[in-house]
Amino acid sequence: MRLANKTALITGGGSGIGKACARAFHREGANVVLFGRRKHKLEETARELGSRVLMVQGDMIRGDDLDRLVQETRSTFQRIDILVNNAGLFRGAPLHEISDEQYDEMMNINMRAVFQLTRRVLPVMMEQKSGSIVHISSILGIIAVPQVAAYNVSKGALNQLSRSIAVEYGGYGIRSNSICPGLIETDMTADLMKDEALLQEWRKDYPIGRFGKPDDVANACLFFASDESSFVTGTVLPVDGGFTAH
Ligand SMILES: NC(=O)c1ccc[n+]([C@@H]2O[C@H](COP(=O)([O-])OP(=O)(O)OC[C@H]3O[C@@H](n4cnc5c(N)ncnc54)[C@H](OP(=O)(O)O)[C@@H]3O)[C@@H](O)[C@H]2O)c1
Repeated sequence: MRLANKTALITGGGSGIGKACARAFHREGANVVLFGRRKHKLEETARELGSRVLMVQGDMIRGDDLDRLVQETRSTFQRIDILVNNAGLFRGAPLHEISDEQYDEMMNINMRAVFQLTRRVLPVMMEQKSGSIVHISSILGIIAVPQVAAYNVSKGALNQLSRSIAVEYGGYGIRSNSICPGLIETDMTADLMKDEALLQEWRKDYPIGRFGKPDDVANACLFFASDESSFVTGTVLPVDGGFTAH
């Protein structure tokens, strides 16, 4: 098993990409910690996985919830080998109509909270002299599309945070990589997926001829989480069916 005896903390582990990561990591032998606000989503995933699971209900933007998350993870599993910064918010509006509150909400969840949690996890990994941090960014952190400026900015910043961790903590055996998914079929995109005309147009931009599934992202995440990628750090990997190739 690729993740035997490892402990993985996954934010937003109760749904979509986070849940697919939880399943994949658990299958490969990891202890899995699920974090999110909706208790029933965490419970559903924890029930499905059975053993070697801890669920911690909380909000990414609350520092005391992040403290509790790290404490409970350590007291249950002692270690944190893998951190998947997956929880995120996607919302769109023309740039000139985005209010300060909307901008702050986006940046607080997609960027500030990731910074805050990572800062709490790094000392644990430094003590262990090992760790892998995987950020679920977006193709919109590499290229920009209209109507989602705050999201574009937040995911671009996340890629830069990932590189910063890679260059600063490599000496501790800590790696950091970003995954940039294209359109993935999850709750986040459920409304978009109802617009067949729009989808037909968008599908033309995906050379592989389809949109992504949560497992497509989880498989890449598994590679970064495992020792198979021990010489890979500071990278930004599109998982996008070729979208960013043109
Ligand atoms: N789907 C796509 O096409 C796509 C493409 C590129 C990138 N991504 C990125 O992939 C990540 C996962 O999204 P998804 O597609 O899997 O959608 P999703 O199922 O809606 O997942 C988002 C997760 O984030 C958690 N979350 C959001 N705000 C939170 C907060 N304040 N505190 C704690 N948890 C919070 C949610 O849990 P609770 O609501 O229960 O808190 C949920 O589990 C996001 O970062 C997203 O930007 C998605």
